[in-house]
Amino acid sequence: MVTVLPPLAGGRQREVEVLTTLTATLSHQGRGRGTKTCLHSQKLKKNEPCVTNMPEDCKKFEMPSQLGDNVHWPAESKVKVVGIVCSPRQQGNTDFLVREALTAAKEAGAEEIEVVSVANKTILPCDGCNCCLETAECIIDDDMQDIYPKLLAADGIIMGTPVYFWGVTAQAKAIIDRTYCLVTGHLALDPELRAKVKSHGTALRNKVGGTIIVTARVGATSAFRQISDFFRLHRMVEAGGAIAYGREKGEASSDEQGLAEARWTGRAVVRAIKQRKALEG
Ligand SMILES: Cc1cc2nc3c(=O)[nH]c(=O)nc-3n(C[C@H](O)[C@H](O)[C@H](O)COP(=O)(O)O)c2cc1C
Repeated sequence: MVTVLPPLAGGRQREVEVLTTLTATLSHQGRGRGTKTCLHSQKLKKNEPCVTNMPEDCKKFEMPSQLGDNVHWPAESKVKVVGIVCSPRQQGNTDFLVREALTAAKEAGAEEIEVVSVANKTILPCDGCNCCLETAECIIDDDMQDIYPKLLAADGIIMGTPVYFWGVTAQAKAIIDRTYCLVTGHLALDPELRAKVKSHGTALRNKVGGTIIVTARVGATSAFRQISDFFRLHRMVEAGGAIAYGREKGEASSDEQGLAEARWTGRAVVRAIKQRKALEG
């Protein structure tokens, strides 16, 4: 597939700077079986974290998208799960179920859980400027900027959305689209550099996803598939999900099956994270 890239906003100088940094980053990658070379050229055992402080310039390109398979583990190996509530209604059904899933995740061994709600947040839609093809960052300055680091730091992401018109909410779709900058890293500007990036990895790759859908009546499976495709596009591992029924605030809490599924989702996410860590560690 041929990718046609847009003209560079920052000019040739910017292109050279970006490529130089990316090339340097890639050249730091170890290829040995039991060892790896971290971003700071330190030789480490395969499961040994790099604890060197990142120089400012290096941070920008730390994302796995540019690093191929040989990504070093973050110094912290705590299990972190973030729940994203994509309902604009505060303390509604989705909020309730995502919190239930996170509580179950904690009981199953997650050391850190966090809820992020879109209610009262400004998350603009992607405007297709394609700047992230150059920088792997989104230039839209809104509340999504606070969500990126939470997604990147988490091992597991539980996305919860009510069904709106047989699909996810506009807020959920905005979040999904705004993660484009986390996938565009592998679309390096230079074909040679692109060839060096072994797989189309992304910054969210190998994180574990769980889905919570709340619906009054119909459309749950379409919404579920949207979240599922979002995880798959990011090369995440999908642990499963829940569908719960309810229209008015609090109604979904009496859907026992939905509630049980939400809790199961939280536990399944943690189980998959632990399995993945055991395999890679
Ligand atoms: C704009 C809008 C569209 C909706 N579309 C659907 C729909 O297509 N199918 C359905 O079963 N329920 C639909 N609902 C109902 C919500 O899915 C339901 O009330 C859900 O419990 C809301 O979750 P929340 O409390 O987390 O906001 C819609 C509600 C709104 C406000």
